[in-house]
Amino acid sequence: MADVDAGKLTELAIEVAREAGSLAVRRRAVGVDVAATKSTPTDVVTAVDREAEELIHGRLLAARPDDGVLGEEGASVAGTSGVTWVIDPIDGTVNYLYGLPTYAVSIAAEVNGEVVAGAVVNPASGETWWATRGEGAFLDGVRIRISGETRLDHALVGTGFGYAAERRAVQAQVLTEVIVKVRDIRRAGAAAIDICNVACGRLDAVYERGLNPWDYAAGLLIATEAGARAGGLDGAAPSPEFVLAATPGIFDGLHDLLSGLDAARG
Ligand code: IPD
Repeated sequence: MADVDAGKLTELAIEVAREAGSLAVRRRAVGVDVAATKSTPTDVVTAVDREAEELIHGRLLAARPDDGVLGEEGASVAGTSGVTWVIDPIDGTVNYLYGLPTYAVSIAAEVNGEVVAGAVVNPASGETWWATRGEGAFLDGVRIRISGETRLDHALVGTGFGYAAERRAVQAQVLTEVIVKVRDIRRAGAAAIDICNVACGRLDAVYERGLNPWDYAAGLLIATEAGARAGGLDGAAPSPEFVLAATPGIFDGLHDLLSGLDAARG
């Protein structure tokens, strides 16, 4: 895979994510309905999630026919090139359904399992974050850095909740312990944007149990390229089990708090 140009993968991710974002905005203007539900009756899929995923899938494979795709709504194929695209056509589907302007198209490219390129577009704000491994992170073309926060009790921390009531009960319990030790909590409703907000200093940290790779793949590359530290709990890599991304100054404190609360249970 030595001949993969990660910068070109980033350019493609940006272009396709913006196109899917424009589609989402156009469809939103005429109204959006729930097409199906997934893990629970409130874990919804709209027709636009599917249409946007098909568009992304089609554009990526038209440009790079031998690549693989892993998509939230199931448009997945195994490739032969060693490059796999990890795509979320609409992260923050519930926000999208309700007309809240915090949702994202997220596209990451993995080469032999390592994310090397990523783009996250918020179509409602018009913002695009992107990064190529080793080349820094950008928001609309301007290089971004995490905040300089070093105090956990001054940290603005994003988090989110799964769809299943049993998991939420645990997440809510954990939250009651975290909220009294930080500046405040934000729940924006789109993990990809939460993670990008750490990258550009709008949040100091983000954590969540139970995200899927398409929620965090692009965002974590962008956040780490902007200086964030990312991991799971107790030395694990970020995974669906647990994702934590924070400024290096507060990572250990928040990690130890969450680990002590056994925040990856449930
Ligand atoms: C959800 C959002 C939300 C997070 C949930 C995710 P979806 O993704 O990222 O912020 O808290 O855990 O499932 O369902 O809108 O693509």
